Amino acid sequence: MLLHLDASARRSSFSRRLSKAYADAWRAAHPGAGYVYRDLAADPVPHIGEAWTELCDHVLENEITDIARYEEAATTPARRAAWAIVKPLLDEVVAADVVLIGTPMYNFSIPSSLKAWIDQITFPKMSLKGRSFVVTGARGGAYGPGTPREPYDHEERYLRDFFKGHFAVEDVTFVHAELVNARLDPALFHLRDRHEESLAAALETASSLGSALASPSSGAEIRS
Ligand SMILES: Cc1cc2nc3c(=O)[nH]c(=O)nc-3n(C[C@H](O)[C@H](O)[C@H](O)COP(=O)(O)O)c2cc1C
Repeated sequence: MLLHLDASARRSSFSRRLSKAYADAWRAAHPGAGYVYRDLAADPVPHIGEAWTELCDHVLENEITDIARYEEAATTPARRAAWAIVKPLLDEVVAADVVLIGTPMYNFSIPSSLKAWIDQITFPKMSLKGRSFVVTGARGGAYGPGTPREPYDHEERYLRDFFKGHFAVEDVTFVHAELVNARLDPALFHLRDRHEESLAAALETASSLGSALASPSSGAEIRS
């Protein structure tokens, strides 16, 4: 099953175009394999509240590592209400073979809509090993190796570290369309061609990764 998330506040968005390119190709290559779509901007998941932290504490104190047992933590009405939000989100991730995330870079990092989803679904020592994560991103500037802004990319670094470090996911792939601000910012107009090249290459890469029949990648980073 492909779980497809989008997080851009814009409807006409580059990260949405890229995630759609991947999803269309994946669905054509895996007919009948299942597809779930969630728009985290249009239909935001709430921030975690105190009862959620009680679920989390229960899981930690009782050394529960089996996701199927998390529900045992829902022992009060408030915790049951918190669990009712978590459960469908978690079920989708657990059922997924591939988790596809279309996300903008906001303020050197990820949108709060995506962070709210991560906070809801993440529990201590939770493993999602065996799944693939694919992130299709768009950003106003350029953050590739050797660029002055490379150290400020806390979007890819955070997501890669979190998916690998916390979820034990080995297969994490990034595809970025860069320099989107060259379309708007007169100071960057001279970089429009580089942006167009980046976008075209990212769309092509997203589509070819999606149509790959085996595991979509070996955890590559593709910065177009
Ligand atoms: C709230 C906000 C914050 C942004 N912060 C950054 C940033 O830190 N670095 C950057 O390169 N671009 C930044 N941008 C530009 C976006 O990354 C760019 O517009 C990108 O295309 C957004 O993705 P989307 O087209 O999928 O909406 C920001 C845009 C917005 C709206």
